[in-house]
Amino acid sequence: MSNAPTMLILPGDGIGAEVMVEVQRVVDWVSGASGTPFTTETDLVGGAAIDAHGKPLHDDTMKKAFDFDSVLLGAVGGPKWDNLDFSIKPERGLLRLRKEMELFANLRPAMCFDALADASSLKRELVAGLDIMIVRELTGGTYFGEPRGITDLPNGERRGVNTQVYDTHEIVRVARAAFELAQKRGGRLCSVEKANVMESGVLWREEVTKLASEYPDVELSHMYADNCAMQLVRQPKQFDVIVTDNLFGDLLSDCAAMLTGSLGMLPSASLGAEDENKKRKAMYEPVHGSAPDIAGQGKANPIACILSYAMALRYSYDMPDAADAVEKAVQDVLAEGYRTGDIMQPGMKAVGTTEMGDTIIAKLKKAA
Ligand code: IPM
Ligand code: MG
Repeated sequence: MSNAPTMLILPGDGIGAEVMVEVQRVVDWVSGASGTPFTTETDLVGGAAIDAHGKPLHDDTMKKAFDFDSVLLGAVGGPKWDNLDFSIKPERGLLRLRKEMELFANLRPAMCFDALADASSLKRELVAGLDIMIVRELTGGTYFGEPRGITDLPNGERRGVNTQVYDTHEIVRVARAAFELAQKRGGRLCSVEKANVMESGVLWREEVTKLASEYPDVELSHMYADNCAMQLVRQPKQFDVIVTDNLFGDLLSDCAAMLTGSLGMLPSASLGAEDENKKRKAMYEPVHGSAPDIAGQGKANPIACILSYAMALRYSYDMPDAADAVEKAVQDVLAEGYRTGDIMQPGMKAVGTTEMGDTIIAKLKKAA
């Protein structure tokens, strides 16, 4: 939207740093090809920030996140920081970004590239052509609810507490985002909670239902979260857009991601409310984690992070042509049989992180 797009890059930990090198190359290509040079700056988050500053997100980095048009984040966490106090774990850096920027709508598409339909753990016919959008509430619910903590009880036991809590406005704003997406997609929205056992689920269902009359072109349905998990592996193509809370969304999006062949394939966008200039605060990140088991070995799949940048081109920079080009390049590279280890299949060409980046860049150059 702005003439001189700016993006804050936070590679984070583990494979985050490796995949971001490839994304940076794609950013440079887009800058050159579109004549819209991106201004990027790289900073620390997660374990990398803990090592440098003693906390998972420096206040200066938080401030920058507000100043840039969007944030692109790799992944956070790793065994090195697992035993730190909860309040300074790497994940807290990510959660702080989401919370302070009020990125309440987390869009997690689960799309099955045709070339990868056989890499799914489900049968090809169940996943070929799959195109689901999970809208996960990202700033409320169990992740942030009070009271929370671990307390000592008089009887010598300990108690761990987290609270699932949603206020009306939190449900309404994420539901609206989901209805609007459904309007632009297949026109179907499935709202997911546990209204059979949780009051927060009852409220969720009531508030979403109230909105339905404003979106007559969207067919609204409701499903309990456990059933949704089951339906996702039974008949995933029944879904168009799913809207759900923070914790269920975390679980169901991992499940949906696996349908597509690999977690290494899926991007996400976390969006805030539109301001008066029709701009949204936004952060883009792959759905996968820092994968400490393969970190530093040049094996990681950079596609999820590259596709996250493509989502940024679409939602933050109003550059749909560039987004299309990047997505097409990824599709073509897969169709030609290039595979990182996570999506490797017999007869395909095994490549590492850098070579995957090379082939995607080569495709982009050729298509331009
Ligand atoms: C995700 C991750 C995060 C979450 C972690 C790293 C805090 O699993 O983005 O899905 O639980 O939200
Ligand atoms: Mg998760």
